[in-house]
Formats: sequence, structure tokens, C-alpha cells
Amino acid sequence: MDKFWNEYPVIKNDLNSIVDIMKKNTKCKDKVMQKSIHELIDSGGKLLRPAFVLMSSRFGNYNEEKSHALAAVVEMIHMATLVHDDIIDDSKLRRGQETIQSKYGKDYAVYIGDFLFCVCFKILASNSSLTSIKIDSKSMSRICLGEVEQLNSRFVQNISLKRYLNRISAKTAELFSLSLYSGAAESECSEKLCRIFWNIGHNIGMAFQIIDDILDYTGDDFSIGKSATNDIKQGIYTLPVIYALEENRNILSPILSKNEYKDEDVHNIIKLVNQYGGVEKSKRLAQRYTDKAFGLIDKLPENDYKDILKQITQKLLHRNY
Ligand code: IPE
Ligand code: IPE
Ligand code: MG
Ligand code: MG
Repeated sequence: MDKFWNEYPVIKNDLNSIVDIMKKNTKCKDKVMQKSIHELIDSGGKLLRPAFVLMSSRFGNYNEEKSHALAAVVEMIHMATLVHDDIIDDSKLRRGQETIQSKYGKDYAVYIGDFLFCVCFKILASNSSLTSIKIDSKSMSRICLGEVEQLNSRFVQNISLKRYLNRISAKTAELFSLSLYSGAAESECSEKLCRIFWNIGHNIGMAFQIIDDILDYTGDDFSIGKSATNDIKQGIYTLPVIYALEENRNILSPILSKNEYKDEDVHNIIKLVNQYGGVEKSKRLAQRYTDKAFGLIDKLPENDYKDILKQITQKLLHRNY
């Protein structure tokens, strides 16, 4: 279990049982498939999305079986998107280990992602209302469309801030919203409360992806457990580049326009993005989304989990992995 939850034993205990649910539901005839999924489950993901389901479900009529099942579902949606995302991004490292396609090949990775999505619907069908299944499917489509939009934007230098924000809202914030929303909705919280949770998830998720994009510039492979600098190598121009381009297009643009980025180009782009304030400005926007999340968390009814949610939101802003 990731160290992230050491200070929160109540959540950590529940997350252990969610790990068991995921393992039980991904047992299958193909031993390579099963082994690779179980390795991914054990590889130290932060388990944020299931933890958000657990937290919001405590604001209504808590039903352990249901809430644990839903928590397992959001983590498996997340895992499936990561497996597929790593194929598209050609990433070699995930959670400090070789990615599935590096280890088992692209073909297996495609099927593993698909299999995980199928398991999600199997669990949802037995534990969730039809309305929730509809909302889950809609979110899954939106995540996919966010990823496709990113694919279509590779090496495009005039991406607007609005387009970037729409993209990360779809590919990342959507699942944070869904996690907090579905925990609340399935424990019969009022529609108004569920909507507040949805919006908290949106703001946490936006800050989360911005920080992730910053870490690609400021982190190293070992600390983030992923291949740092991969975004720029893949032509994915995230917020730090967008801001740096606004600041000094004349210097940055010719380097970005090269046909191929050599190591020294990547090094140079990173240096310039920092120099033109791309990282600093991005941090400020992540702070603004976090502040919005805090404002909404304050509106939640009093509950032990309200404070934990606040602490986690703060911790995510200052994380280094
Ligand atoms: C990684 O998410 C993908 C993004 C949305 C940036 P996490 O950082 O939550 O990944 P794990 O589950 O902890 O590995
Ligand atoms: C991940 O975005 C979003 C989804 C998996 C849908 P990134 O491509 O930034 O995530 P990492 O950096 O590979 O974890
Ligand atoms: Mg990626
Ligand atoms: Mg990333």
C-alpha cells in the first residue's frame, strides 16, 4: 500500500479490502493477463480515486459492500486508462516499474485494458443503480475523448488555454468527479450534495493534472515513477509550455518546430519553459483550483471525513510524485 495513506488508518484499511476485490475480480484463465494485472495492482498506485469514493460515501447511508465495489470500479477504470495511455504515450515506466506494453507487448496491453473495462461493468451491474451505470459510461467516454483530443493536438503550438483546460477536465478531472459523486449518490445523498461532490472532484482533478504536467518538467524518473520529460518528447504541449509560449514565442517556437527532438533540445526546452515562468505560472493555477475545491469542501456538512478530504486536497497540491 502506498505511503500516502499511512496517516489515515481508517481509509488505509478500507483500501486494503478494495485491493482484494480488484484481485478477486481479475482472476482469469489467462495467467499472463492475471499476473500482469495483479502486478499493476501491487505496484504502489496512490489509490486516490477509490479513497474519494470511500470518503463521499460516508456522507450518506454508508453501505460497505456497495461503496467498496464502486471504489474498486473507479480504480480499475483508472488502471485501464493508464495501460492504454502508456501504449499511446510510448511510456516505459509506470509506478516505478516497466509498463505493461514494455513487459508483455502492445497486444497484451490493449487486451488488458479492455478486460479491465469489462470487469468494471460486471461489478457495476451487480452493485450499482442503472442511473449510476449511465453516468459511469458517460464519464468513460469523456475520458476517452479527452485522450483523443490530446492525440490530435500533438506538436500543435497554438493550443489555447481553454482547449488545454477542456482536455484535462475530460481526461483526468472527470474521473475525480465521478469518484466523489458516485460514492455520495449511491449512499443516497441529496442531489444538491452530490453536485457539490462532483464539483469538488472537478477542481481537485484539474489541480491534479496540472501538477502532474509540472512534474514532467521538474521531477525525475525515480521520484515520479514514470518517464519524466516524456510529454515534450511526445509533442504533448501541456500548461507549462503553453504559458512559456505566451511569454516568449520567438525563442521557444523554433526549437519546438524541429522535426526531431534530440536530448539537448529536450534539455533546452525544459530550461526555457522554466525561465519564461511556465512552471511557476502553472503552479499558481493549480493553487487556484485547489482554493476552489476548499471553498466547496467548506460547504459540506460536518463529518470526520470532511477534514481528511481537505488534508488530502492540500497534500496533492504539494506532492512530488
Ligand atoms: C496518473 O494518475 C494519471 C493522471 C491522471 C495524471 P495517478 O498519479 O493517480 O496514478 P497512480 O494510480 O498513483 O499511479
Ligand atoms: C493521463 O494523463 C490521463 C489518463 C490516463 C486518462 P498523462 O498522460 O499525463 O498521465 P501520465 O503522466 O502518463 O501518468
Ligand atoms: Mg501518459
Ligand atoms: Mg503526465
